[in-house]
Amino acid sequence: MNLLVVGSGGREHAISKKLLESNHVEKVYCAPGNDGMRLDDIQLVAISETDKAGLIDFAKKADISFVIVGPEIPLLEGVVDAFEEAGIKAFGPKANAALIEGSKDFAKQFMEKYAIPTASSRTFTDYTEAKAYLDERGVPIVIKADGLAAGKGVTVALEMEEAVLALKDMMLEEKFGDASLKVVIEDYLAGEEFSLMAFVNGEEVYPMAIAQDHKRAYEGDKGPNTGGMGAYSPVPHIAEAIVEEAVKNILRPAASGMVKEGRYFRGILYAGLILTKNGPKVIEFNARFGDPETQVVLPRLESDFAALIEDLLNNKKPDVRFKKEGITLGVVLASAGYPENYEKGKKLTGLDDIAESVTIYHAGTKQAENGELVSDGGRVLLLAKEADTMSEARALLYPEMEKLDNPNFFYRMDIGTKAE
Ligand code: AMP
Ligand code: GLY
Repeated sequence: MNLLVVGSGGREHAISKKLLESNHVEKVYCAPGNDGMRLDDIQLVAISETDKAGLIDFAKKADISFVIVGPEIPLLEGVVDAFEEAGIKAFGPKANAALIEGSKDFAKQFMEKYAIPTASSRTFTDYTEAKAYLDERGVPIVIKADGLAAGKGVTVALEMEEAVLALKDMMLEEKFGDASLKVVIEDYLAGEEFSLMAFVNGEEVYPMAIAQDHKRAYEGDKGPNTGGMGAYSPVPHIAEAIVEEAVKNILRPAASGMVKEGRYFRGILYAGLILTKNGPKVIEFNARFGDPETQVVLPRLESDFAALIEDLLNNKKPDVRFKKEGITLGVVLASAGYPENYEKGKKLTGLDDIAESVTIYHAGTKQAENGELVSDGGRVLLLAKEADTMSEARALLYPEMEKLDNPNFFYRMDIGTKAE
């Protein structure tokens, strides 16, 4: 069969690559994808991720058996709804269910209603009231834009000055446009962070191996929040019992709560969690595969990925098995200046020297007119390596990262050190 993946980043590269491992899959198309994916025989389709008519038209012409929608924006814009209306099977929540990611205010109210553990919070549309609440709660405190902001709409403020500045930027300066006119102010949760994703079909929840992302731009978890600078899976210092608790108290009630709300969720439910003294608590829900978590979790799936998704789309019980041994590490190569201002079109030197043993996921690369691959986004590549232990994975992966070293790019040297 032929499949279509919607999106263009490292996550979509990993999804497409995994689909191609299935025996029954002939071609995997990615719309719009990025040029680097072609090195893995992924077929690029020049249609934007939100062009519903264009995507449907292509899916019909290319005899697509089913579609996987990667990013949050097309999900929230109803791309899955549109495919279904056109009689094409598409994996991912419909717009009304993707709201669990699209509105932090909705997610907080939903969690409260279904007693899902999370930080206490309040939502504001008025700056003066928000500021008064800040003064009352004090620091540390967390300020979140209600809507989508590419993972950058959250400020964890340790000082009051920083909190007030974030609030002003969002509510008065409209830093994230409409997405930040409504703001959630949430208590700060201390503890280890981890990502728990699951395949969900209504009330059915099939958890994946957990991962740990590294959101801050610089080593030692310093600097601004990014889309994610590296990840690994599994997370050996988070006990299996904790994961089971999170599945029972968070993912299951969330999946069944969405059904009760008339927002049937079929797709990937991603819980961003903090392990507090009182157990795991939610800091965010996403309605899709995480990026970069997917690049380290999906390679560990032992069952047939295409068959798994097909089963979910046909309301059958899927075979979901993840490798238990070893660890997979992924480190992001980002453009200098990311997540703020950065330049695109920078030549990727050293790509040919990277050992065969490392998996390269292209997040934002483009073929220049002379045929060379150049950068085309903030996050450019992710290099992944599986090994028996984290120390081994780091020892094997970082020398390959070094080959790409160049003043136009940067990467964090400390990805995975907590798991050594
Ligand atoms: P988000 O975009 O919601 O994932 O938030 C970005 C980052 O901010 C998270 O990965 C956490 O490191 C941090 N964060 C979010 N909410 C909280 C919270 N309530 N307490 C502490 N840290 C948080
Ligand atoms: N890695 C975090 C996210 O995908 O939102």
